[in-house]
Amino acid sequence: MQNFVQYAPTEVIFGKGTEEQTGAAVSKWGGSRVLIVYGGGSVVRSGLLKRVEESLERENIIYEEFGGVRPNPRLEFAEEGVKKALAFKADMILAVGGGSSIDTAKGIAHGAANPDLKLWDDIWMKQAPLTRSLPVGVVLTIPAAGSEMSDSAVLTNEKLGRKAGLNSEFNRVKFAIMNPELAFTLPAFQLACGITDIMMHTMERYFIPGIKCQLTDEIAEGLLRTVVENGRIIMKNKEDYDAMAEIMWCSSISHNNLTEAGRGKDFSVHKLGHALSAKYDVAHGASLAAVWGSWAKYIYGGAVDRFARYARKVWGAEQEDDQAAALTGIAKTVEFFRFIGMPVSLKELGVKPSADDLKALALDATRNDTLKLTRIRPLGAREVKEIFELANQ
Ligand code: NZQ
Ligand code: ZN
Repeated sequence: MQNFVQYAPTEVIFGKGTEEQTGAAVSKWGGSRVLIVYGGGSVVRSGLLKRVEESLERENIIYEEFGGVRPNPRLEFAEEGVKKALAFKADMILAVGGGSSIDTAKGIAHGAANPDLKLWDDIWMKQAPLTRSLPVGVVLTIPAAGSEMSDSAVLTNEKLGRKAGLNSEFNRVKFAIMNPELAFTLPAFQLACGITDIMMHTMERYFIPGIKCQLTDEIAEGLLRTVVENGRIIMKNKEDYDAMAEIMWCSSISHNNLTEAGRGKDFSVHKLGHALSAKYDVAHGASLAAVWGSWAKYIYGGAVDRFARYARKVWGAEQEDDQAAALTGIAKTVEFFRFIGMPVSLKELGVKPSADDLKALALDATRNDTLKLTRIRPLGAREVKEIFELANQ
């Protein structure tokens, strides 16, 4: 087991009706002037935004709305939010929504606390140290990105055509309100994207070979079995509370570092997915499902024992031969993505890249061939292009 730091300080308030506690949570964490960040309108239509605002009013908290975040949230929109937060003198940012609203809220919090820094060049590209931010709270509406407990935020810089994450302890939100019932209104496609993303956050840590971490492995395997079992249930009945509750809790645990303790992480599939989302504006979970099978078949030889263990523990593969078991695990995973309605190729994702496009995608994913992705087997631009080609067949 490698040395590690485990620090996931978010207060989780989980269960039915918990959005009624938003005002109390904001007060507890020191908010009195709150900028509410939300997306394209689902929280208005469902009545959630109104309930959240009523809860703030009960605590005499002043608020202003900042709606309109789009999936694959844009840097420019977060910069607009920074201006709004400064003009309003916000002392807390409250995201009501999914990963896109939460990540925008995190970006606004960093920008508003550091008005002298440029959000992209200084903060996102780490040209200047991030030493403070505003507190962020979350009312979660979709189990997916895990941003409610992660140290990460992802924005798209449209001018550069680049989607990039920022990892920082200042990305940890103060509290996350999670009522699984709020996810009942999700379209099936978004639900499936979320299930895929949750699995991916766990798998992007799990396959790293050569390190013994029994507890971390068992947590990851239990989480993956839980997502698959309950994912099958909610894809048939998205109002199954217990199944949605399991999935929602998995979304947070998959990305709050518990599944990497002692092993570390390896977000190579995400690098491929972010390149696809930056170029084609495709949904995050779908971008990952579309390439995962090709990535896994390309790379599993560098960690056959890990892929074989995964196949046995998560999918019940019975082959004694590691190679055969590993391939079964990959096939079962792709079959599951198909079952929940995810694309498993670039064609199914709805994009038609040319050979030049594939090369450009590979260069984006590897920062112009300066990064070697994965600790399983180094992937430069040439190898990543080959994976994209496999996914493009
Ligand atoms: O915008 P609205 O109208 O709210 O609709 C959203 C959006 O269209 C809809 N939705 C969300 N909750 C709903 C709902 N519709 C009906 N009922 C509900 N209860 O779902 C759509 C997707 O929302 P979004 O916030 O984009 O989803 P998700 O949580 O999957 O977030 C994806 C973003 O998070 C980033 C991704 O790259 C992507 O940009 N990620 C953030 C991470 C992090 N900060 O730790 C890690 C992840 O790996 C990921 O990269
Ligand atoms: Zn993700």
